[in-house]
Amino acid sequence: MENAALAAQFPIEQEVKRRRTFAIISHPDAGKTTLTEKLLMYGGAIRTAGTVKAKKSQQFATSDWMEVEKQRGISVASSVMQFEHEGCVINLLDTPGHKDFSEDTYRVLTAVDAALMVIDAAKGVEAQTIKLLEVCRQRKTPIITFINKMDREVREPLDVIDEIEQILGITCAPITWPVGMGKEFAGVFDLRRHHMLKFTPGDNTAHQAVEVLESVDDPYLTKNFPIAHATFKEELEIVQEAADPFNQEAFLAGDLSPVFFGSAINNFGVRDILEALTQWAPSPRPREAKETTVYPDGKQFSGIVFKIQANMNPQHRDRIAFLRICSGVYRQGLKVNHARSAKPIRLDHAITFMAQERAHLTTAYAGDIIGIPNHGKLRIGDVLSEGELLAMAGIPHFSPEIFKTARLNDPLRSKQLNKALKELGEEGTIQVFEPLEKTGMIMGAVGQLQFETVAHRLLTEYNIDATFESVPVHKALWVSSEDIHQLKRFTQTSSVRLAYDAAGALAFMPPTRAALDITIERWPELTFHTTREINAF
Ligand code: G4P
Repeated sequence: MENAALAAQFPIEQEVKRRRTFAIISHPDAGKTTLTEKLLMYGGAIRTAGTVKAKKSQQFATSDWMEVEKQRGISVASSVMQFEHEGCVINLLDTPGHKDFSEDTYRVLTAVDAALMVIDAAKGVEAQTIKLLEVCRQRKTPIITFINKMDREVREPLDVIDEIEQILGITCAPITWPVGMGKEFAGVFDLRRHHMLKFTPGDNTAHQAVEVLESVDDPYLTKNFPIAHATFKEELEIVQEAADPFNQEAFLAGDLSPVFFGSAINNFGVRDILEALTQWAPSPRPREAKETTVYPDGKQFSGIVFKIQANMNPQHRDRIAFLRICSGVYRQGLKVNHARSAKPIRLDHAITFMAQERAHLTTAYAGDIIGIPNHGKLRIGDVLSEGELLAMAGIPHFSPEIFKTARLNDPLRSKQLNKALKELGEEGTIQVFEPLEKTGMIMGAVGQLQFETVAHRLLTEYNIDATFESVPVHKALWVSSEDIHQLKRFTQTSSVRLAYDAAGALAFMPPTRAALDITIERWPELTFHTTREINAF
């Protein structure tokens, strides 16, 4: 079906209601790429396996920035993947991982309405998952959990569930439960429908027909998998007695996660995830702006920029701003107001992300993402709206964890360096901190790639050749307090550890975790924040 025909199909309320915008959070190697591919195959967006994987293997084989940039020209297209399933329009946003992990990875999570957490059943909860889930928890994002690789020898499922609950602080509501694992993996029991779904390894077709066994004691199980079956029966009793049942309200509040078991590579369990997404995950919800509440099915367009991607040619400051539509409809040529500059902009060449290579879409709705080519005019957190200028929060800066200073190879260019770093800081490429004691700017990032970006841009855009050196800072946390006197006292006594960020907000930069803990204990009147809202109001 053509886009125009698709777009004109339903009134705006219905279009918004059928949107599901989500991201996958996982630790590298848990199976995100494999699962993405299966979801896209299911949704008919790609026809053959290997499409996404091929891209992944091409990507970032080298950390050379130009290579990364070149790949990004391609990867813009795979940043957002859209497909239809059971009447829903599903937007899957890519969370850059591996070497590409940066503040952008976190920011993508601010643009979604739900997240799919993929856990490697052999490894349980891993470091990157903890970090990403923390961001979701802060925002109360509903989480669907997929425990992957059941076709391998993995950990006891009860153990994994327990770990998720303990470490991530989220209640698990198992929806399916596995019978066996590895060579003995016989399938999963659907706790809602009270039947078994039989596992067939190696079936790689998009719409694999899963055989249903009506009885948990089907001879297929008792004869072929006697040990796995007996263990399963014991576990089932525990799960049915002790596990929390699924509760839609708790799920939407981000407190409870429905849990599915499966094997992405075998396309087993993928249909369950899509069903959970279409039936349980929320459609776009209203957002608070300083001036008003923005309703997704409102007639006037509004959207917020959550990510900027530098394009192929840095000399031209070519950028693509990724904007999440919060309300209304985007149509080609739409005239909007840019809140920060209070100037109008015409959106002529926005890129939209459609399934089956329908690249040039003319219409997009709340929940959808559009890419706006620009030359540095748009920044992270910027709001575009029809009519009234809007200040919308929701896109924060995240506490950096890697810190460096830039040492100039030509000391005469220090003024230029400061100006360049300020600009890059304002743009959100990296965070920049100016110590109160004027000891030289400190850059802070959540991923190494951000420094590579800065080094490259300093050289090509500002003609500044600098070497980066690590600084002994553990973390940067923004400080606030209702007690002005205490804040003042803290600023005086701890000035060596304090800095202002690009927006002039005060940040505490302790050298070690222990120093941070002691400070938090000593200054109970102060609050130390792990995020800072860009458009706080
Ligand atoms: P990522 O994007 O989260 O980093 O993970 P990716 O999908 O690339 O998967 C990591 C590895 O785990 C891949 O193997 C993939 O084939 C494998 N894998 C994913 N899902 C399953 C599953 O359900 N069962 C089993 N047994 N393996 C799974 P690889 O050897 O690194 O790559 P490849 O050579 O297979 O492509």
